[in-house]
Amino acid sequence: MTSAPTPAPDAPVIAPGTLPRLMPRVAIRDLATHLATYGPLPASSSGLIAAVSDAGVIGRGGSGFPTGTKMAAVAKRGRRPVVVANGTEGEPASLKDRTLMLQVPHLVFDGVSVAASALDAVEAIVCIDSAHGQVASVMADALAQRVAARIDRIPIRIELSPNRYVAGEETALIHWINGGDAKPTATPPRPFEKGVKGKPTLLDNVETLADVALVARFGASWYRSLGGVREPGSLLTTISGGVATAGVYEVATNTTLAAALEHAGADLSQVSALLVGGYFGTWIPTFMAAQLTFTHESLRAIGGSIGCGAVFALPNHVCGLAETARITRWLADQNAGQCGPCVNGLPAIADALEHIVGASLNAAMARDRLNNLFVLVEGRGGCRHPDGVVRMVRSALATFATDIDRHIAGAKCASAPAMLPTPITGGWR
Ligand SMILES: Cc1cc2nc3c(=O)[nH]c(=O)nc-3n(C[C@H](O)[C@H](O)[C@H](O)COP(=O)(O)O)c2cc1C
Ligand code: SF4
Repeated sequence: MTSAPTPAPDAPVIAPGTLPRLMPRVAIRDLATHLATYGPLPASSSGLIAAVSDAGVIGRGGSGFPTGTKMAAVAKRGRRPVVVANGTEGEPASLKDRTLMLQVPHLVFDGVSVAASALDAVEAIVCIDSAHGQVASVMADALAQRVAARIDRIPIRIELSPNRYVAGEETALIHWINGGDAKPTATPPRPFEKGVKGKPTLLDNVETLADVALVARFGASWYRSLGGVREPGSLLTTISGGVATAGVYEVATNTTLAAALEHAGADLSQVSALLVGGYFGTWIPTFMAAQLTFTHESLRAIGGSIGCGAVFALPNHVCGLAETARITRWLADQNAGQCGPCVNGLPAIADALEHIVGASLNAAMARDRLNNLFVLVEGRGGCRHPDGVVRMVRSALATFATDIDRHIAGAKCASAPAMLPTPITGGWR
């Protein structure tokens, strides 16, 4: 394996195979304490791209794309690129990026800094949702410390992006930085070809970049000393719903969902289903949690995805279909108003779900209609927003099939408090 850039000789090393890596128990916001904990940044970033590939780092923003491959594609463009860190986290079921930036802001900046150095970028931009004021202020303070210490070779700035779900999609974010609306467009060109100011752009999730910072310091073998063989390392998961201690947990990627939930204080006998991977994720029956791990490979085998890594535990007394109808309506409202399948199709899917949940006379027809709507919507949007919604709803139909039959037979669920959040978001710039 290619070695990582040589770490400074006195670098404190987090023992291989141990946690925490990304999520220390107390926040480290002071630069001196950060460097004393993680060690100094390597003097040079040469060899970083190969080390990130060897480490097997994969993107934590949802698609699970290999980060080293993406970095190499940007480097091959032969023009000085821009690096963008995606810290927008519009996913309501997830808090992991915000928590990461609040706990270890310098680790995120380290990743941005070494990636920008390795690519000889002209500049780097960290994007944070304008509604996440505390995160923006902690990150701005950390950046000011770094500027004073002259620790970064490439200039880094922070941009506050609009508070919309689709604003975190990569092309939307780039449009926003370029002065347009934060709306996605069909690709190509992809950001690595033409992004900020028309330059090749490396756009990575903030957790991914924190992983890059760890590889830069400790190397590929160290990174691989934890987690699965094909998808190594640790991962931040937001666990919520019917658990005693909801929050963000750092787990090795080969941890089972059941083990993580039990760690968060879930009594799995009181949980009927799980929504894995956020609002573009997959509903699964609880018994599957014992076999599934936090890897794309494991979840793809059941048609799912690890997405943003969030896991929501549905308590037995809450109707999963009602929760699905509510978040589908919210997701439909989040469309960027550009593509027919998304603008017309997603509200129609939400209507059909509401008919079923309401046990209306049309409920049976609504169920049949859903399958036609899926075909009309899937693969036809400018971005993956409608596909993500269809996947989540389809998994709900499978997981809550008996509930659907009950609703169609006329039964209504006793109303329970809404559990999955549907935040009020802002408008376009
Ligand atoms: C509708 C939509 C919303 C998205 N929101 C986010 C987000 O909030 N944060 C994020 O990192 N990626 C988000 N993504 C994924 C990004 O487009 C992109 O794949 C990711 O930031 C790349 O980083 P990675 O390679 O490190 O995963 C979103 C994608 C879609 C389709
Ligand atoms: S599919 Fe939806 S969210 Fe994506 S670009 Fe089209 S209208 Fe916008």
